[in-house]
Amino acid sequence: MAFIAPSILSADFLHLSRDVEMINQSEADWFHLDVMDGRFVPNISFGLPVISAIKREAKKTLDVHLMIEEPGKYAEDFKKAGADILSVHIEACPHLHRNLQQIKSLGMKSGVAINPHTPVETMFDVLHDIDVVCMMSVNPGFGGQKFIPHTLQKITKLKAEIKRRGLNTLIEIDGGVTLENASEIILAGADVLVAGNTVFASSDPLATIAQLKQC
Ligand code: DX5
Ligand code: ZN
Repeated sequence: MAFIAPSILSADFLHLSRDVEMINQSEADWFHLDVMDGRFVPNISFGLPVISAIKREAKKTLDVHLMIEEPGKYAEDFKKAGADILSVHIEACPHLHRNLQQIKSLGMKSGVAINPHTPVETMFDVLHDIDVVCMMSVNPGFGGQKFIPHTLQKITKLKAEIKRRGLNTLIEIDGGVTLENASEIILAGADVLVAGNTVFASSDPLATIAQLKQC
């Protein structure tokens, strides 16, 4: 059974407290929080004060996905804001090994996010230091996009390497996850499904989360 991580990017920011409480009450496992800087990605979302506020009410793991340049400058601030898992983009980190050590030394789980065009092999040499691979199945920056099918092959390849080396690294799939494609994604080897639009555009988010959990 996969973990489900609803993405707050698609929540109603005017009623954030209500949506956080909905996730608390649901079968979801993590909160997925997308931070965008308008430089690494062509969009700006939310940052530290919003995450601190969510932390006060959230009863589940905070999974923070940094789509920002120079994430190392802010790792300590995100720890203070309440991040449990901190993911940095491999494309934004010329010294990825150092970023991973920093995240772990701050007491968070380490995550590496990877864009659709980046070969998954580029992280194999630090795989033993990664707790969660956040594999992008859309181009990062926006919710509600369509799943890129080639991701399935990347999942299979990564899963095989994780198994071969006996690691516990989790594979999280981020972007375009729906009730229709969730089973196929899990079958390929995903451990965690992020879902923004699928959960928050649904007429019954609680039921949709329960359905995703059954996939
Ligand atoms: C995209 C973000 C995703 C996004 C997913 O850049 O990283 O987490 O919120 O949204 P959906 O599930 O709507 O594709
Ligand atoms: Zn994300």
